[in-house]
Amino acid sequence: MTAQTPFPPSSAQNSAQNPNQNPDQSSGLSSTAWEQRYQAGTPRWDLGQPAPAFKTLLESADAPQVGSAIALGAGRGHDALFFAQQGFTVTAVDFAPSAIAALGQQAHAQNLSVQLLQRDIFELVPEFAGQFSYVIEHTCFCAIDPALRPAYAQLAADLLAPGGELLAVFFTHQRSGGPPFGTTPAAVRQLFAPHFEVIALEPVTNSIPSRRGEELWGWLRKR
Ligand SMILES: C[S@@+](CC[C@H](N)C(=O)[O-])C[C@H]1O[C@@H](n2cnc3c(N)ncnc32)[C@H](O)[C@@H]1O
Repeated sequence: MTAQTPFPPSSAQNSAQNPNQNPDQSSGLSSTAWEQRYQAGTPRWDLGQPAPAFKTLLESADAPQVGSAIALGAGRGHDALFFAQQGFTVTAVDFAPSAIAALGQQAHAQNLSVQLLQRDIFELVPEFAGQFSYVIEHTCFCAIDPALRPAYAQLAADLLAPGGELLAVFFTHQRSGGPPFGTTPAAVRQLFAPHFEVIALEPVTNSIPSRRGEELWGWLRKR
């Protein structure tokens, strides 16, 4: 991942889409487009390690109790595997087959049990409604069409059991276009307010250098 171009350039448009439909397969946001990026070996978003904010949280005195967690747009699964290592029961979702395959290989190599779902996140409900104590978000929110963000907030709430929590690292860069599509603390607060109360919403202080100053740690509890 480079500081100048954190994610691969994309011709994606901000067109509104039905959240229950896969994005147009010609768009840079489709499963095909993401799969091509994995196959091309250019996953520049991939840190090769869990997000530092998650490490800080789970290794702190404030670490949430272990429970069932679902990682959305999990990619190769560094975050999902880290939560599994810490004792969480993890389901990892991604619609790119190569990402899920790589995640499965890593889970096997580390002798970790992770439920793998090669699915569009917007097709998880009603099947998985209310099944999780935690939703794990890291660079999936910034990878979907911004027009789908209200649907994403609804989805996160729907996946959680009552009192469940969203553990999120949001990307707050202000460059135009995407993916990754940036956001702001105010926008996150407004978007999730109908479904969540905020436990913490603050800048990440230990980001990797190329994301420094552009990450927002969000810990939200379902109302
Ligand atoms: C920028 S990557 C981040 C991957 C991983 N979270 C990480 O940090 O390495 C975004 C991921 O979300 C997946 N994705 C995007 N939209 C999705 C959707 N609607 N359903 C499932 N996966 C999706 C992509 O395939 C890709 O793996």
